[in-house]
Amino acid sequence: MPVASTIKEAMTRSSWIRRMFEKGAELKRIHGAAGVFDFTLGNPFPEPPPAFFDGLEELAARRHDGVHRYMPNAGFPEVRARIAHKLDQDGVFPGIGERHIVMSVGAAGGMNVTLKTILNPGDEVIVFVPYFAEYLFYITNHGGVPVLAETDGSFDIDLDKVAALINPKTRAIVVNSPNNPTGRIYPEASLRGLAALLAACEKRVGHPIYLIADEPYREVAFIPKLPPTPAALHPNSFLCYSWSKSLSLPGDRIGYVAVNPQIDDAPSIVDGLTFTTRTLGFVNAPAVMQLIVTKLLDVTVDMGWYRSRRDRVLAGLRQAGYDVMTPEGTFYVFPRAPGQDDVAFVNHALSERVLVVPGSGFGRSGYFRISYSVDDRTIDGGLEALARVRRSGSA
Ligand SMILES: Cc1ncc(COP(=O)(O)O)c(C=O)c1O
Repeated sequence: MPVASTIKEAMTRSSWIRRMFEKGAELKRIHGAAGVFDFTLGNPFPEPPPAFFDGLEELAARRHDGVHRYMPNAGFPEVRARIAHKLDQDGVFPGIGERHIVMSVGAAGGMNVTLKTILNPGDEVIVFVPYFAEYLFYITNHGGVPVLAETDGSFDIDLDKVAALINPKTRAIVVNSPNNPTGRIYPEASLRGLAALLAACEKRVGHPIYLIADEPYREVAFIPKLPPTPAALHPNSFLCYSWSKSLSLPGDRIGYVAVNPQIDDAPSIVDGLTFTTRTLGFVNAPAVMQLIVTKLLDVTVDMGWYRSRRDRVLAGLRQAGYDVMTPEGTFYVFPRAPGQDDVAFVNHALSERVLVVPGSGFGRSGYFRISYSVDDRTIDGGLEALARVRRSGSA
């Protein structure tokens, strides 16, 4: 058997995403790409802002100062200092310094580095359902055990459910807000409730329970005031951030892990993150990207582009009779699957050449996810096709 059994098993578990990808490829072969409405990929569609390309040109001219050499594994000190200054200035982590920032290969790299640093074999990590499916792999990659906490009817945190899951093996909890796949932004009261619960449980179990805030969608938010990051509310915490969405740079793989300056034993935690950045083979985050993004700390792509698409998709879905909650952020909507059987619905949608992901792929059946970070043709044609699916109603 060429592939390790653990990987083979993991690949089987992740089969939804792969199956949709394969179905999409098959449909595109038969009908041509223009005849298929693909809402599956969570891929930022807008190009990066002009200032990004200016930064690239500026760096292309730097041919003699060694910017492309190896650097400290945590990243360029001046880059980390600028990010820390910004987080301090914005009141995210008062008192944070360069020493609390480790540059990462996207949020995914940051999550893996963080989990590798804190997990002992068999440690449990709580994840809210529905979840970004990759979390399960990130956790098991490093010997952890994912433990699933259902959210409530509006996809908000259910504190009683979390409380019931915490035990001496609990090492961490992942909080993703704005949330993929639901688009939910957890209200401040829920986040404060969670922080209070974690503080009480830490006392009971006698060790830190780390809160890992995964926030690649931080700026893709459509509410007037974003609540604080949950990482600011619980001292033993990490903020995993990336510019994949805010600057549309997912292919360039750049982000950071910010360690809460109040974390227990910050120096050894940061040493651990730096070491795992090296030993997981990232070595360091991409040099050119580190230098560019720190010049763009106040720049984002036009979030109005996402908002207007969200509104179009919501209006189209509701007009067609779908039951869908208004997402407060990200570029996903997560409607109920008519008839409740999400897999049957997704297959029905395929017959109209529409590709969406069943909620089962995120641990919550009875729903489906649409990514509206797509072109106008897909939105307009896809909404018409989804209306036909709803009307023919066999699902
Ligand atoms: C919830 C969530 N976390 C992490 C990531 C990974 O982001 P990055 O490209 O920054 O690694 C994604 C990507 O879509 C995501 O949806």
